[in-house]
Amino acid sequence: MSTYSKMSKLKQLIQQLPKAELHLHIEGTLEPALMWSLAKKHNIDLPFSSVEDIQNAYQFNNLQSFLDLYYQGADVLRDQDDFFELMWAYLCKCHEQNIVHTEIMFDPQTHTQRGITYDVFMPGFAKAIDKAKTELGVSVYLILSFLRHLSEDSAIATLQEAQPYYSMITAVGLDSAELNNPPSKFQRVFASAGSLGFKLVAHAGEEGPPEYVWEAINLLKVDRIDHGVRSIEDPKLMAYLKQHQVPLTVCPLSNLKLCVVDDMSEHNIVDLLNDGLCVMVNSDDPSYFGGYLNENFYALVDKLSLTEQDIVKLISNSISASFLPEQQKHEWLTRIQHICPS
Ligand code: ADE
Ligand code: ZN
Repeated sequence: MSTYSKMSKLKQLIQQLPKAELHLHIEGTLEPALMWSLAKKHNIDLPFSSVEDIQNAYQFNNLQSFLDLYYQGADVLRDQDDFFELMWAYLCKCHEQNIVHTEIMFDPQTHTQRGITYDVFMPGFAKAIDKAKTELGVSVYLILSFLRHLSEDSAIATLQEAQPYYSMITAVGLDSAELNNPPSKFQRVFASAGSLGFKLVAHAGEEGPPEYVWEAINLLKVDRIDHGVRSIEDPKLMAYLKQHQVPLTVCPLSNLKLCVVDDMSEHNIVDLLNDGLCVMVNSDDPSYFGGYLNENFYALVDKLSLTEQDIVKLISNSISASFLPEQQKHEWLTRIQHICPS
């Protein structure tokens, strides 16, 4: 079989297998066309002259250069319908790509800081999530993420303000500018969230050093690490992650766009997988980074020698590392096994 047909067979398999996505920021799914139409709707002056001009601005040289545009973009989200539309568009994409379960981060402070309250965005999200459950069969969990460039007191207030919506939220997370904002800054708020019964995740080892991954594990007691690709620099950490099967929610196109790697052929996801770590593929901020979940897989197929076995393992890991009940995990894993008997 030619290399081309082998690759297209792998891509078909990626489309066909039921998948979970565990690292996705809903604000990062805001497509330029929706940003443009919401700006028109609310009479907001964008510093862009067209939808294409917005798209062309998506060239980043590090995490901060992306975050600046990402927070600016989110300013067009003003009313409940906007948040509905944003969430619904992503969940339709999940349906298209055969993502059967997704655990979605949202950044309350990005909105509350500009006067948009929980009572605006949560009902918008809820309406789209309910509709996706019944009409598309996609299941959704939400992860409330704290912005780490803000203070821990602000994170604590953010968790308290979410109280009327706790039943909609599965986990809390930590995102935004990593360097100089170590996990240790958020120990108290993670301890409170843990005692309220929330699952815990944190971005670490994206731009930050392996030490931040250790802190997320030892001080924040997280269930998963978001990104974590720099863990490979610390052999003791690698051994720990393998022994305890701490999931790393890796985001290949994000790492490429934010210059964490120079070329996709240098991405370490296959090394992490071969070293026995629980890694899986995610899209992070697909509108900004050039692709949703399947496009992330396709980029790996194009640039790394990914086998069918690797793909099945990565996808099975997405199910195993999710916060779904064990019975549901078992059902999806069995379905994957039926499609791809090993
Ligand atoms: N917020 C949205 N995307 C992010 C990323 N890749 N890292 C940190 N914070 C983020
Ligand atoms: Zn992220």
